Amino acid sequence: MKRFRAIDSSRRLALYLAALALACGVLGFTWWKTQYAWRDGYGDGDMSHFAQADPRALSGGDMTVFHGGFEPFGQSPDNLPWQYEAIFEDGDGVFDKAFIPGDGKTASQVKNAGGTRRRGLGPLYNARGCAECHFRDGRVERPYESGGEMLGMFLRLSAPDGKGGWKPPEGYHHQLHDRAIDGVPPEGRGHIDWEEVPGRFPDGEAYSLRKPRFRVTDLAHGELPAGTIIEARTAPPIHGGGLLEAIAESTLLGFAEAQKNDPDEVSGKPNYVTDPETGRRVLGRFSLKANEPSLRAQAAGASFNDMGVTSPIYRREGCLPHQKECLAAKHGGTPDEPELSAKQLEDLTVYMRLLAVPARRGLDDPAALKGEELFKEARCNVCHVDTVKTGGAHPIKRLRNQTIHPYSDLLLHDMGPGLAGRPDGEATAREWRTPPLWGIGLTGRSNHHTNFLHDQRARGLQEAILWHDGGAAKARDRFMAMSRGERAMLIRFLESL
Ligand code: HEC
Ligand code: HEC
Repeated sequence: MKRFRAIDSSRRLALYLAALALACGVLGFTWWKTQYAWRDGYGDGDMSHFAQADPRALSGGDMTVFHGGFEPFGQSPDNLPWQYEAIFEDGDGVFDKAFIPGDGKTASQVKNAGGTRRRGLGPLYNARGCAECHFRDGRVERPYESGGEMLGMFLRLSAPDGKGGWKPPEGYHHQLHDRAIDGVPPEGRGHIDWEEVPGRFPDGEAYSLRKPRFRVTDLAHGELPAGTIIEARTAPPIHGGGLLEAIAESTLLGFAEAQKNDPDEVSGKPNYVTDPETGRRVLGRFSLKANEPSLRAQAAGASFNDMGVTSPIYRREGCLPHQKECLAAKHGGTPDEPELSAKQLEDLTVYMRLLAVPARRGLDDPAALKGEELFKEARCNVCHVDTVKTGGAHPIKRLRNQTIHPYSDLLLHDMGPGLAGRPDGEATAREWRTPPLWGIGLTGRSNHHTNFLHDQRARGLQEAILWHDGGAAKARDRFMAMSRGERAMLIRFLESL
C-alpha cells in the first residue's frame, strides 16, 4: 500500500512537471510571437503565390505586391503581421493628412492630442503634408503649368560664397519656401518658363524637348545675388524605400568599382553626406542627388524643410534671424517637445520601409520582352541595374537578402550640362542619382500624368531618355539610332516595369 502510494506521488510529480513545462512552452511561444517573431515582417498567412509567380515579376522580392488598383505605390506587402499593419496605418496617417499651423501649445499641453496631433505647419513651408507632393506615394498629382502654382516641387538656390564654393543666397534658405502661414510673408514665388527645343532622330522622326528656365518673383528679403543657381526638384515616388535602404554599402561601392574603365565612360560615384542625427559622414542613397542617408533622416528632413515641422532630429524652427514674423509666429511645439513626436517619426519611417513594390507585368508580351533586350543592348542597365541583392543587416528581416529589380545603382552620374542644377554634398551640379525605374509604367495610373526627370521637364518616357547626356550620352545615342519600332518596344518594356 505504502509502495503504491510512493509510485503514485512520483507519477503525480512528473505529471505536474510536464504540465508546468507545457504551460511555460505555450507562454514562451506566445511571448515570442507577440514580442519578437512579428518583427521579422512575416505573418502567418499563405505566401505560395510568391513561389508560384514568375521570378521576373517579383520586382521587390518578398516585398512585391500584386495589385491592380489606382494606388500601386501605396500598398503594404501581403502577409504583413498585424502589428506592423498597425504601425503602417499610423505612419500612413502622418503621411497622408495635412498639418495645420501651431496653436502655441505642445502635444502634452493639449488633452487627448496623442499621436494624431498634426500641428506646427510652417511658419514657412512648401506643402502641408507629405502626400500633397507624393500623391498616392508616387509623384505629384498635377504637374507644373507655366504661371501656375508650383505643386510637389520646389526651387533650391545656391549662391557663390566667394571662395569657390556655394552657400544659400544672403537672406534665404537653400530651399525657397513659397508658402507661409497667415501673417508671415512667403520667401518668394518660383516660375518655370519653357522653351521648345526641336530635334530629329537619325531616321528623320521629329521630336521636341522643353528646356526650363527658372525665375523667382515676389522676393521677401531682397534680390538674389548675381550668379545664384536655381534648380527645381520634384517629388519622386517612394515605394520600395526599405529595400533600397537594405542594400549593403559594399554592393553600391561595388557598382562604382565595376563602372571604372567602362567602355561608355559611365562612372558612377557615391555621394557622402552628413547624417543629421550622428553628425557622421555616411553614404547617401535617397533623394535626387543621393543627398539623404536613410528613410528616417529623409522623413525628418522633409518634415522640416518642406513643411516647417520640427522633429526629434530638427528640434528648432528654421526661421532665419531677420525673418521676424516667422520667429514670432505661433508654433506647435518646443525644442524639448517638437511638433512631430518621436512616435510619429518612427511610424513614418516604418511606413516607408514597408511600402511594397508593384509586380512587373507584360511577361507574355513579345514586344516588351524584345524591348528588354534592347534596353540591355543600349547598355541602359549599367546605371539602371536590373538585379540587386539586398544585404543581411537591415533591422526588418523581410527586407534582408532579397533579390530585387530596382533598375538603379543609387550612384551619382554626370548627366551633362542640359540637366545641370546646383551642387549638393559631393554631387556636382551635373550629377544626379540614377532613379529606380521599378513601377515607372504605373505612373499614369497612379498620378494622372507621365512627366519625368528631376524637374518634371520630360513629357513622357521618350523625352526622359532623350535628355540623357554626359555619362549616359552613348546609351542615349544607341536609343536614338534604333528604328522607330525598336524605340517603341523599349518604351513598352519600361511601361511593363
Ligand atoms: C513640397 C513637396 C514635398 C513634400 C511636402 C514632401 N516631399 Fe518628399 N520629396 C520631395 C522632393 C522634391 C524630393 C527630392 C528631394 C531632393 O532631391 O533633395 C523628395 C524626396 C523624398 C524621398 C526620397 C525618395 C527617393 O527616391 O530617394 C522620400 C522617401 C520622401 N521624399 C518622403 C517624404 C516624406 C515622408 C514627407 C513628409 C514628411 C515628404 N517627403 C514631404 C518633395 C516633397
Ligand atoms: C550614366 C547612367 C545612366 C544611363 C546609362 C542611363 N540612365 Fe536613365 N537616368 C539616369 C539618371 C541619373 C537619371 C535622372 C536624371 C534627372 O532626373 O535629371 C535617369 C533618368 C531616367 C528616366 C526617368 C526616370 C524618372 O523617374 O524620372 C528614364 C525613363 C530613364 N532614365 C531610362 C533610361 C534608358 C531607357 C536608358 C538607356 C537608353 C538610360 N536611362 C540610360 C542615369 C542613366
